[in-house]
Amino acid sequence: MSELKSFSEKQSTVESLDTIWMDGEFIDWDEATIHVLTHGLHYGTGVFEGVRCYDTEDGPAIFRWGDHLDRLYGSAQSFDIELPYTPEELTKATRELIDRQHLDDCYIRPIVFYGYDHLGLNPTGSPIRTAIAAWPFGAYLRDDGLENGVDVTVSNWRQFASSQVPTNAKMTGGYVNSVLANLEARQGGYDEAILLTPDGTVAEGPGECLFLVSDNKLHTPALSEGVLPSITRESVIRIARDLGYTVHHESTISLDKLETADELFFAGTAAEITPIRSVNDIAVGNGTKGPVTDEIQSRFFDIVARRTDDYGEWFTLV
Ligand SMILES: Cc1ncc(COP(=O)(O)O)c(C=O)c1O
Repeated sequence: MSELKSFSEKQSTVESLDTIWMDGEFIDWDEATIHVLTHGLHYGTGVFEGVRCYDTEDGPAIFRWGDHLDRLYGSAQSFDIELPYTPEELTKATRELIDRQHLDDCYIRPIVFYGYDHLGLNPTGSPIRTAIAAWPFGAYLRDDGLENGVDVTVSNWRQFASSQVPTNAKMTGGYVNSVLANLEARQGGYDEAILLTPDGTVAEGPGECLFLVSDNKLHTPALSEGVLPSITRESVIRIARDLGYTVHHESTISLDKLETADELFFAGTAAEITPIRSVNDIAVGNGTKGPVTDEIQSRFFDIVARRTDDYGEWFTLV
């Protein structure tokens, strides 16, 4: 199982990991602190993104930055947050942050939240705080997960419906659901969870969307099932179709389909394309990375390393 490295461990190997952009300025990593009575800390009133920057032949290149920014501004609207910075300003800050810290392959975390002013559910009047951090990341789910696949369990927690929390927004508070599912899975000895919708059909992972392969065709739950409009999901749909696969992206996937699937894989910024080798201790296919997953995964890694000129519009060079 992979244990995510602490920031101090990372800083002990990457000395230049010392800067965070916060509210318009580059500040020391250790100075990027907030008051304990910050609204976002108490009520989860923040929105964020997770973005990867890849080390490519053209230098560090941010994957689908514009789409992540669009989602960030969209998520902010759900909380009546008006971002105090333009997309151009956030882009300039991010490029410079990566450059200042001499990073190439890294994860970027922009976050916008209601700050310190008063406590009470109504956040109006609290300052809007904005920060961007970037750090080296690597594989997310387990060290050998990309190659050998991960073991997952179906969570007892259900994904919330869009009538409960906006599921198309990436809100900090919404992630309690994901954290509970991930903790439960880890405590059971699994690498990750799969969440079902309130109706009991398959939704997604706590931080990843899900693809199922059956008879050489791909299926992924419809956005109307309350899954995050994942940027990797959209990329995989396009890559798979360009490779000639049929992709059903409006599927309702019943629980039993997980057991009979030829292949399953997670897709997400952190997880990239991670094969799922078992669900509730039952092997998926032959319990290894399947051929369709393998083909899509290798195409994905060729694209993000920019070993092909295709999909050039997906990258923002640092
Ligand atoms: C709940 C959830 N689903 C799916 C994803 C994958 O989304 P993306 O591909 O945009 O990273 C994420 C990650 O952000 C997530 O948190």
